Amino acid sequence: MAAILARAGAAAIAAGNLRRPQETGNDSRRRTRNLVVAAVTGTRPEVPQEGSLERPAWSGETPLSRLVGALIAFKPLYFLMKLASREVIISCSMRRCRTAEKSNIPWREMTKQVLESDVYEVFESIRDLNLVYPDYYLNPFHAYDEGNLSWLAAAEAEPATMSIAKRAIPEAGSIDEANQIVRGNWLNAIEEHHLKYSGNCQINDILDVGCSVGVSTRYLAEKFPSAKAVGLDLSPYFLAVAAQKEEKISRQNRIRWVHGNGEATGLPSKSFDLVSLAYVCHECPARAITGLVNEAFRVLRPGGTITLTDNSPKSKVLQELSPVLFTLMKSTEPFLDEYYMLDLEETMRQAGFVNVHSILTDPRHRTVTATVPF
Ligand SMILES: C[S@@+](CC[C@H](N)C(=O)[O-])C[C@H]1O[C@@H](n2cnc3c(N)ncnc32)[C@H](O)[C@@H]1O
Repeated sequence: MAAILARAGAAAIAAGNLRRPQETGNDSRRRTRNLVVAAVTGTRPEVPQEGSLERPAWSGETPLSRLVGALIAFKPLYFLMKLASREVIISCSMRRCRTAEKSNIPWREMTKQVLESDVYEVFESIRDLNLVYPDYYLNPFHAYDEGNLSWLAAAEAEPATMSIAKRAIPEAGSIDEANQIVRGNWLNAIEEHHLKYSGNCQINDILDVGCSVGVSTRYLAEKFPSAKAVGLDLSPYFLAVAAQKEEKISRQNRIRWVHGNGEATGLPSKSFDLVSLAYVCHECPARAITGLVNEAFRVLRPGGTITLTDNSPKSKVLQELSPVLFTLMKSTEPFLDEYYMLDLEETMRQAGFVNVHSILTDPRHRTVTATVPF
């Protein structure tokens, strides 16, 4: 059963179009100027496209979504799905498979390297023993029984992150190229928004909430090299991997790593110009997303920018995922329905943000940006 699910999922995962980007939301305007669509190796990805629905039919409270929920709730089936889901990501063997190992992500080598390193010493210096984890964070997640609180999850986080870009841009000739498009469009959307609405405030301080093993933090630090960047995450395992990697990188301002909860960071009010949440919210229940957005508002200075990038409910590719694939995905992502149901733009407005804009920055993901008013 697991093998069948894995094989079918592998075939389905190959789907994906890159068409002209579209902004979404009532007050959105089209912004395509800085979108990276030219691929380095000469492949010609199309531009992102919206589907015809508000959100995928397999999400939310539709009969289809409830059926998938019932299948996942059946424990023996859930166990098989969990295995299959992992298999699809790591080592599917179908010819056109675009997932990790077939896309030249050296998944097992990267994992081994972390597990056999001195990361365990870094861990001791980074974890806050007094931190109280939110309840949602203590559940099994991403096919790991201990969720993000384990060494295996931490060691596999970077290859898993790399596979996000490859899945978003299956036409890309390499992982690097896919990352340049996915991360490049996200960074350009941030820069463009900040330039337009910050009233000429420079980006001096950046907070990357849910930084995981630091991939997004490093991209932000490289895009804004004169800024001081802080990466914050609930997983001390992930942070240890991030900090260990950062030790080998030389840059103008060293990244600081904080073990904390993005809903209550304990960081001073009005102390950041940019708060980023990259691929965090689909992993959180709606109440936590609201908490994260409110806390971002508190720590941002007037004119500061919040940016949130994650799965777009309007993505045509996501709306057209195969039943096998969305079932597998939902089996290891317990909060997807809540994420897709939440009106993120409205949540930002409710928190006090203005100039809320949403743009499809690749075929699967939207980047939502907004400003703290002066
Ligand atoms: C998919 S990862 C983020 C990847 C990373 N931002 C990037 O773009 O490479 C999601 C992260 O959010 C973190 N997270 C979830 N809830 C959080 C919270 N309330 N506060 C801080 N981090 C949280 C998880 O520990 C996990 O590392």
